[in-house]
Amino acid sequence: MNIIVTGGAGFIGGNFVHMMVQQYPKDNIICLDALTYAGNMETVAPVLEAPNFQFVKGDIADRDHVYALFAQVHPDIVVNFAAESHVDRSIVHPELFLQTNIMGTGVLLDACRKYGIQRYHQVSTDEVYGDLPLDRPDLFFTEETPLHTSSPYSASKASADLLVLAYHRTYGLPVTISRCSNNYGPYHFPEKLIPLMIINALHDKPLPVYGTGENVRDWLFVKDHCRAIDMIIRNGTVGEVYNIGGHNEQTNLDVVKTIIHTLGKSEALIHFVKDRPGHDRRYAIDPTKIRTHLGWEPETRFADGISQTIQWYLDHRPWWEHIISGDYQQYYERMYGDRA
Ligand code: NAD
Ligand code: TYD
Repeated sequence: MNIIVTGGAGFIGGNFVHMMVQQYPKDNIICLDALTYAGNMETVAPVLEAPNFQFVKGDIADRDHVYALFAQVHPDIVVNFAAESHVDRSIVHPELFLQTNIMGTGVLLDACRKYGIQRYHQVSTDEVYGDLPLDRPDLFFTEETPLHTSSPYSASKASADLLVLAYHRTYGLPVTISRCSNNYGPYHFPEKLIPLMIINALHDKPLPVYGTGENVRDWLFVKDHCRAIDMIIRNGTVGEVYNIGGHNEQTNLDVVKTIIHTLGKSEALIHFVKDRPGHDRRYAIDPTKIRTHLGWEPETRFADGISQTIQWYLDHRPWWEHIISGDYQQYYERMYGDRA
Protein backbone atom coordinates (compact mmCIF):
# COMPACT_ATOMS: atom_id res chain seq x y z
CA MET A 1 0.00 0.00 0.00
CA ASN A 2 1.00 3.61 -0.53
CA ILE A 3 0.32 5.65 2.58
CA ILE A 4 0.63 9.43 2.67
CA VAL A 5 1.28 10.71 6.18
CA THR A 6 0.98 14.48 6.46
CA GLY A 7 2.74 16.28 9.32
CA GLY A 8 5.20 13.39 9.71
CA ALA A 9 8.05 15.73 10.67
CA GLY A 10 6.14 16.77 13.79
CA PHE A 11 5.72 15.10 17.17
CA ILE A 12 2.97 12.49 16.75
CA GLY A 13 3.30 12.17 12.97
CA GLY A 14 7.04 11.54 13.43
CA ASN A 15 6.44 8.75 15.92
CA PHE A 16 3.79 7.32 13.59
CA VAL A 17 6.14 7.38 10.58
CA HIS A 18 8.88 5.59 12.55
CA MET A 19 6.40 2.89 13.61
CA MET A 20 4.91 2.39 10.13
CA VAL A 21 8.26 2.28 8.29
CA GLN A 22 9.57 -0.39 10.68
CA GLN A 23 6.38 -2.41 11.06
CA TYR A 24 5.24 -2.53 7.43
CA PRO A 25 8.28 -2.88 5.15
CA LYS A 26 6.00 -3.69 2.19
CA ASP A 27 4.03 -0.43 2.54
CA ASN A 28 5.43 2.81 1.11
CA ILE A 29 5.24 5.66 3.59
CA ILE A 30 5.24 9.08 1.95
CA CYS A 31 5.58 11.95 4.41
CA LEU A 32 4.19 15.30 3.25
CA ASP A 33 5.22 18.12 5.57
CA ALA A 34 5.60 21.88 5.13
CA LEU A 35 8.38 22.06 7.74
CA THR A 36 6.82 24.92 9.63
CA TYR A 37 8.53 25.99 12.87
CA ALA A 38 7.15 22.70 14.36
CA GLY A 39 8.43 20.42 11.61
CA ASN A 40 11.91 19.04 11.99
CA MET A 41 13.95 16.90 9.59
CA GLU A 42 15.93 15.63 12.57
CA THR A 43 12.70 13.91 13.66
CA VAL A 44 12.47 12.17 10.29
CA ALA A 45 16.22 11.39 10.16
CA PRO A 46 15.98 7.86 11.68
CA VAL A 47 13.93 6.62 8.67
CA LEU A 48 15.25 8.83 5.87
CA GLU A 49 17.36 6.11 4.29
CA ALA A 50 14.69 3.39 4.61
CA PRO A 51 13.71 1.99 1.18
CA ASN A 52 9.97 2.27 1.98
CA PHE A 53 10.14 5.93 3.03
CA GLN A 54 9.96 9.15 1.03
CA PHE A 55 9.92 12.74 2.29
CA VAL A 56 8.11 15.45 0.34
CA LYS A 57 8.25 19.07 1.47
CA GLY A 58 4.92 20.78 0.86
CA ASP A 59 1.88 22.52 2.27
CA ILE A 60 -1.39 20.54 2.57
CA ALA A 61 -3.24 23.73 1.61
CA ASP A 62 -1.30 24.01 -1.69
CA ARG A 63 -3.86 22.44 -4.03
CA ASP A 64 -1.62 22.13 -7.10
CA HIS A 65 1.16 20.51 -5.13
CA VAL A 66 -1.17 18.11 -3.31
CA TYR A 67 -2.90 17.07 -6.55
CA ALA A 68 0.46 16.52 -8.27
CA LEU A 69 1.57 14.32 -5.37
CA PHE A 70 -1.64 12.27 -5.44
CA ALA A 71 -1.33 11.87 -9.23
CA GLN A 72 2.20 10.56 -8.78
CA VAL A 73 1.75 8.38 -5.68
CA HIS A 74 -1.87 7.21 -5.96
CA PRO A 75 -2.18 6.74 -2.21
CA ASP A 76 -4.36 3.96 -0.80
CA ILE A 77 -4.48 5.65 2.60
CA VAL A 78 -3.99 9.23 3.79
CA VAL A 79 -3.42 9.96 7.47
CA ASN A 80 -3.62 13.68 8.21
CA PHE A 81 -1.54 14.82 11.19
CA ALA A 82 -0.52 18.15 9.62
CA ALA A 83 -1.83 21.01 11.70
CA GLU A 84 -1.01 24.08 13.65
CA SER A 85 -1.22 22.47 17.08
CA HIS A 86 -0.44 24.93 19.86
CA VAL A 87 -3.36 26.56 21.69
CA ASP A 88 -1.31 29.57 22.87
CA ARG A 89 -0.21 30.35 19.30
CA SER A 90 -3.81 30.06 18.10
CA ILE A 91 -4.77 32.82 20.52
CA VAL A 92 -2.16 35.12 18.94
CA HIS A 93 -2.53 34.07 15.26
CA PRO A 94 -5.87 32.35 14.69
CA GLU A 95 -5.73 32.85 10.90
CA LEU A 96 -2.84 30.39 10.46
CA PHE A 97 -4.97 27.75 12.17
CA LEU A 98 -7.92 28.31 9.88
CA GLN A 99 -5.66 28.10 6.84
CA THR A 100 -3.88 24.85 7.65
CA ASN A 101 -6.35 23.02 9.86
CA ILE A 102 -9.51 23.77 7.87
CA MET A 103 -8.47 24.79 4.33
CA GLY A 104 -5.63 22.26 4.28
CA THR A 105 -7.97 19.47 5.33
CA GLY A 106 -10.40 20.56 2.61
CA VAL A 107 -7.67 20.31 -0.06
CA LEU A 108 -6.69 16.80 1.10
CA LEU A 109 -10.34 15.69 1.02
CA ASP A 110 -10.76 17.09 -2.50
CA ALA A 111 -7.62 15.26 -3.61
CA CYS A 112 -9.00 12.02 -2.13
CA ARG A 113 -12.24 12.49 -4.10
CA LYS A 114 -10.41 13.32 -7.31
CA TYR A 115 -7.88 10.48 -7.25
CA GLY A 116 -9.80 7.84 -5.25
CA ILE A 117 -8.77 6.45 -1.91
CA GLN A 118 -9.36 3.45 0.35
CA ARG A 119 -9.28 5.49 3.52
CA TYR A 120 -8.78 9.07 4.66
CA HIS A 121 -8.00 9.29 8.38
CA GLN A 122 -8.26 12.59 10.24
CA VAL A 123 -6.17 12.92 13.38
CA SER A 124 -8.31 15.08 15.63
CA THR A 125 -8.29 15.95 19.31
CA ASP A 126 -10.43 15.67 22.43
CA GLU A 127 -10.28 19.48 22.58
CA VAL A 128 -13.18 19.59 20.09
CA TYR A 129 -15.45 18.61 23.01
CA GLY A 130 -14.50 21.70 25.03
CA ASP A 131 -13.83 21.09 28.71
CA LEU A 132 -15.33 19.39 31.76
CA PRO A 133 -15.78 20.88 35.23
CA LEU A 134 -13.14 20.04 37.83
CA ASP A 135 -15.73 18.97 40.41
CA ARG A 136 -17.41 16.29 38.24
CA PRO A 137 -14.89 13.41 38.01
CA ASP A 138 -17.78 11.18 36.86
CA LEU A 139 -18.00 13.00 33.47
CA PHE A 140 -16.02 11.89 30.38
CA PHE A 141 -15.99 12.73 26.68
CA THR A 142 -17.70 10.08 24.57
CA GLU A 143 -18.01 10.16 20.77
CA GLU A 144 -21.56 11.49 21.32
CA THR A 145 -20.48 14.49 23.42
CA PRO A 146 -21.45 17.68 21.53
CA LEU A 147 -18.65 19.71 19.96
CA HIS A 148 -18.16 22.80 22.14
CA THR A 149 -14.81 24.43 21.46
CA SER A 150 -12.92 27.02 23.50
CA SER A 151 -9.85 28.13 21.51
CA PRO A 152 -9.23 29.04 17.87
CA TYR A 153 -7.15 25.83 17.72
CA SER A 154 -9.97 23.57 18.90
CA ALA A 155 -12.52 25.44 16.78
CA SER A 156 -10.37 24.87 13.69
CA LYS A 157 -9.98 21.16 14.51
CA ALA A 158 -13.74 20.78 15.07
CA SER A 159 -14.41 22.55 11.75
CA ALA A 160 -12.11 20.09 10.00
CA ASP A 161 -13.91 17.15 11.65
CA LEU A 162 -17.25 18.43 10.38
CA LEU A 163 -15.83 18.81 6.89
CA VAL A 164 -14.49 15.25 6.97
CA LEU A 165 -17.88 13.88 8.04
CA ALA A 166 -19.63 15.99 5.40
CA TYR A 167 -17.41 14.49 2.67
CA HIS A 168 -18.38 11.05 3.91
CA ARG A 169 -22.11 11.78 3.91
CA THR A 170 -22.22 13.81 0.70
CA TYR A 171 -19.62 12.12 -1.49
CA GLY A 172 -19.32 8.74 0.21
CA LEU A 173 -15.62 9.33 0.94
CA PRO A 174 -14.30 6.48 3.16
CA VAL A 175 -13.18 8.43 6.22
CA THR A 176 -12.42 7.81 9.88
CA ILE A 177 -11.63 10.28 12.65
CA SER A 178 -9.75 9.78 15.92
CA ARG A 179 -9.95 12.20 18.85
CA CYS A 180 -7.08 11.67 21.25
CA SER A 181 -6.22 13.21 24.59
CA ASN A 182 -2.89 14.97 25.32
CA ASN A 183 0.13 13.01 24.10
CA TYR A 184 3.63 12.95 25.59
CA GLY A 185 6.84 11.18 24.58
CA PRO A 186 9.91 11.51 22.32
CA TYR A 187 10.11 14.32 19.72
CA HIS A 188 7.56 16.53 21.50
CA PHE A 189 8.20 20.16 20.48
CA PRO A 190 9.64 22.18 23.41
CA GLU A 191 6.81 24.73 23.48
CA LYS A 192 4.41 22.16 25.00
CA LEU A 193 4.01 21.60 28.76
CA ILE A 194 6.04 18.42 29.35
CA PRO A 195 9.13 19.08 27.19
CA LEU A 196 9.15 22.75 28.20
CA MET A 197 9.24 21.81 31.87
CA ILE A 198 11.92 19.13 31.36
CA ILE A 199 14.19 21.50 29.45
CA ASN A 200 13.65 24.49 31.76
CA ALA A 201 14.27 22.30 34.82
CA LEU A 202 17.50 20.97 33.29
CA HIS A 203 18.63 24.61 32.97
CA ASP A 204 17.34 25.52 36.47
CA LYS A 205 15.03 28.04 34.80
CA PRO A 206 11.60 28.99 36.22
CA LEU A 207 8.77 26.57 35.40
CA PRO A 208 5.80 28.69 34.27
CA VAL A 209 2.56 27.10 35.49
CA TYR A 210 -0.55 28.83 34.15
CA GLY A 211 -3.12 30.00 36.73
CA THR A 212 -3.25 27.72 39.76
CA GLY A 213 -1.98 24.58 38.00
CA GLU A 214 -5.22 22.75 38.83
CA ASN A 215 -6.24 22.19 35.19
CA VAL A 216 -6.44 18.51 34.35
CA ARG A 217 -5.17 16.77 31.20
CA ASP A 218 -5.57 13.07 30.30
CA TRP A 219 -2.04 12.05 29.23
CA LEU A 220 -1.36 9.24 26.75
CA PHE A 221 2.05 7.95 25.66
CA VAL A 222 2.48 8.85 21.99
CA LYS A 223 3.22 5.25 20.90
CA ASP A 224 -0.14 4.11 22.25
CA HIS A 225 -1.80 6.81 20.15
CA CYS A 226 0.09 5.71 17.02
CA ARG A 227 -0.93 2.07 17.57
CA ALA A 228 -4.56 3.12 17.92
CA ILE A 229 -4.47 5.02 14.60
CA ASP A 230 -2.94 2.01 12.86
CA MET A 231 -5.76 -0.18 14.21
CA ILE A 232 -8.38 2.31 13.02
CA ILE A 233 -7.04 2.61 9.48
CA ARG A 234 -6.84 -1.19 9.15
CA ASN A 235 -9.91 -2.36 11.10
CA GLY A 236 -12.01 0.71 11.90
CA THR A 237 -15.44 1.26 10.39
CA VAL A 238 -15.77 3.92 7.70
CA GLY A 239 -17.69 7.01 8.82
CA GLU A 240 -16.90 6.43 12.51
CA VAL A 241 -15.25 8.60 15.15
CA TYR A 242 -13.02 6.92 17.78
CA ASN A 243 -11.95 8.55 21.04
CA ILE A 244 -8.47 7.57 22.24
CA GLY A 245 -7.33 7.94 25.85
CA GLY A 246 -5.99 5.87 28.70
CA HIS A 247 -7.77 7.19 31.82
CA ASN A 248 -4.69 8.98 33.06
CA GLU A 249 -5.80 12.32 34.44
CA GLN A 250 -3.27 14.57 36.13
CA THR A 251 -3.27 18.18 37.23
CA ASN A 252 -0.63 20.29 35.52
CA LEU A 253 0.97 20.90 38.91
CA ASP A 254 1.31 17.16 39.55
CA VAL A 255 2.92 16.63 36.14
CA VAL A 256 5.39 19.45 36.79
CA LYS A 257 6.22 18.08 40.26
CA THR A 258 6.83 14.59 38.82
CA ILE A 259 9.32 16.10 36.36
CA ILE A 260 11.02 18.12 39.10
CA HIS A 261 11.39 15.09 41.38
CA THR A 262 12.61 12.79 38.61
CA LEU A 263 15.32 15.28 37.70
CA GLY A 264 16.23 15.89 41.36
CA LYS A 265 15.38 19.59 41.16
CA SER A 266 13.62 21.91 43.62
CA GLU A 267 9.93 22.81 43.66
CA ALA A 268 11.09 26.39 44.20
CA LEU A 269 11.49 26.50 40.39
CA ILE A 270 7.69 26.56 40.04
CA HIS A 271 6.37 29.98 39.05
CA PHE A 272 2.65 30.57 38.80
CA VAL A 273 2.01 32.88 35.85
CA LYS A 274 -1.00 34.61 34.28
CA ASP A 275 -3.58 32.11 33.09
CA ARG A 276 -4.22 31.27 29.42
CA PRO A 277 -7.36 33.08 28.17
CA GLY A 278 -10.27 30.63 27.88
CA HIS A 279 -8.15 27.93 29.55
CA ASP A 280 -9.93 24.54 29.38
CA ARG A 281 -10.30 23.10 32.87
CA ARG A 282 -10.39 19.34 32.40
CA TYR A 283 -10.16 16.85 29.54
CA ALA A 284 -11.07 13.20 30.13
CA ILE A 285 -11.69 10.57 27.46
CA ASP A 286 -14.02 7.59 27.65
CA PRO A 287 -12.20 5.04 25.42
CA THR A 288 -14.90 2.34 25.65
CA LYS A 289 -15.67 2.35 21.92
CA ILE A 290 -12.14 1.77 20.64
CA ARG A 291 -11.56 -0.85 23.34
CA THR A 292 -14.71 -2.83 22.64
CA HIS A 293 -14.79 -2.40 18.83
CA LEU A 294 -11.07 -2.68 18.01
CA GLY A 295 -9.51 -4.20 21.14
CA TRP A 296 -7.17 -1.23 21.69
CA GLU A 297 -5.74 -0.74 25.19
CA PRO A 298 -2.95 1.63 26.28
CA GLU A 299 0.26 -0.29 27.01
CA THR A 300 2.36 2.34 28.78
CA ARG A 301 1.54 3.50 32.30
CA PHE A 302 2.22 7.19 33.01
CA ALA A 303 4.92 6.43 35.60
CA ASP A 304 6.88 4.44 33.00
CA GLY A 305 6.09 6.73 30.06
CA ILE A 306 7.17 9.91 31.82
CA SER A 307 10.45 8.30 32.99
CA GLN A 308 11.15 7.09 29.45
CA THR A 309 10.31 10.54 28.10
CA ILE A 310 12.58 12.37 30.54
CA GLN A 311 15.36 9.89 29.75
CA TRP A 312 14.81 10.47 26.03
CA TYR A 313 15.30 14.23 26.47
CA LEU A 314 18.46 13.55 28.49
CA ASP A 315 19.77 11.20 25.77
CA HIS A 316 18.82 13.42 22.81
CA ARG A 317 20.11 16.83 23.79
CA PRO A 318 21.18 17.79 20.24
CA TRP A 319 17.59 17.28 19.01
CA TRP A 320 16.14 19.91 21.33
CA GLU A 321 19.23 22.11 21.55
CA HIS A 322 19.04 22.58 17.77
CA ILE A 323 15.42 23.63 18.15
CA ILE A 324 16.17 26.09 20.91
CA SER A 325 19.09 27.59 18.96
CA GLY A 326 17.04 27.70 15.74
CA ASP A 327 19.59 25.52 13.88
CA TYR A 328 17.03 22.86 13.06
CA GLN A 329 15.30 25.21 10.65
CA GLN A 330 18.40 25.35 8.47
CA TYR A 331 18.87 21.57 8.63
CA TYR A 332 16.68 20.82 5.60
CA GLU A 333 18.53 23.29 3.40
CA ARG A 334 21.87 22.03 4.68
CA MET A 335 21.02 18.38 4.16
CA TYR A 336 18.73 18.50 1.14
CA GLY A 337 19.24 21.88 -0.48
CA ASP A 338 21.35 20.42 -3.31
CA ARG A 339 19.66 17.00 -3.44
CA ALA A 340 16.45 18.10 -5.18
P1 NAD B 1 3.20 19.29 15.81
O1 NAD B 1 2.92 20.75 15.88
O2 NAD B 1 4.31 18.71 16.61
O3 NAD B 1 3.48 18.87 14.28
C1 NAD B 1 2.72 19.36 13.23
C2 NAD B 1 3.44 19.00 11.92
O4 NAD B 1 2.60 19.44 10.84
C3 NAD B 1 4.79 19.70 11.75
O5 NAD B 1 5.73 18.78 11.23
C4 NAD B 1 4.51 20.80 10.74
O6 NAD B 1 5.63 21.13 9.93
C5 NAD B 1 3.40 20.16 9.90
N1 NAD B 1 2.56 21.15 9.26
C6 NAD B 1 1.98 22.26 9.82
N2 NAD B 1 1.29 22.94 8.89
C7 NAD B 1 1.39 22.26 7.72
C8 NAD B 1 0.89 22.45 6.42
N3 NAD B 1 0.14 23.50 6.11
N4 NAD B 1 1.19 21.53 5.47
C9 NAD B 1 1.98 20.45 5.75
N5 NAD B 1 2.50 20.24 6.98
C10 NAD B 1 2.20 21.13 7.95
O7 NAD B 1 1.81 18.60 16.14
P2 NAD B 1 1.49 17.24 16.93
O8 NAD B 1 1.44 17.53 18.37
O9 NAD B 1 2.36 16.17 16.41
O10 NAD B 1 -0.01 16.99 16.45
C11 NAD B 1 -0.27 16.23 15.27
C12 NAD B 1 -1.77 16.14 15.08
O11 NAD B 1 -2.35 15.50 16.22
C13 NAD B 1 -2.47 17.48 14.97
O12 NAD B 1 -3.48 17.38 13.99
C14 NAD B 1 -3.07 17.71 16.35
O13 NAD B 1 -4.23 18.49 16.25
C15 NAD B 1 -3.37 16.30 16.77
N6 NAD B 1 -3.37 16.02 18.21
C16 NAD B 1 -2.31 16.38 18.98
C17 NAD B 1 -2.30 16.06 20.33
C18 NAD B 1 -1.12 16.39 21.21
O14 NAD B 1 -1.17 16.15 22.41
N7 NAD B 1 -0.02 16.88 20.67
C19 NAD B 1 -3.38 15.38 20.90
C20 NAD B 1 -4.46 15.02 20.08
C21 NAD B 1 -4.44 15.35 18.74
P1 TYD C 1 -0.18 22.25 26.26
O1 TYD C 1 1.00 21.34 26.29
O2 TYD C 1 -0.06 23.56 25.57
O3 TYD C 1 -1.41 21.38 25.69
P2 TYD C 1 -3.00 21.75 25.62
O4 TYD C 1 -3.19 23.18 25.94
O5 TYD C 1 -3.33 21.44 24.19
O6 TYD C 1 -3.64 20.84 26.60
O7 TYD C 1 -0.62 22.55 27.76
C1 TYD C 1 -0.99 21.52 28.64
C2 TYD C 1 -1.49 22.17 29.91
O8 TYD C 1 -0.39 22.82 30.55
C3 TYD C 1 -2.53 23.25 29.70
O9 TYD C 1 -3.48 23.20 30.76
C4 TYD C 1 -1.75 24.54 29.75
C5 TYD C 1 -0.63 24.22 30.72
N1 TYD C 1 0.66 24.91 30.51
C6 TYD C 1 1.27 25.57 31.57
O10 TYD C 1 0.76 25.61 32.69
N2 TYD C 1 2.48 26.17 31.34
C7 TYD C 1 3.08 26.15 30.12
O11 TYD C 1 4.19 26.74 29.97
C8 TYD C 1 2.45 25.46 29.05
C9 TYD C 1 3.08 25.40 27.68
C10 TYD C 1 1.24 24.85 29.30
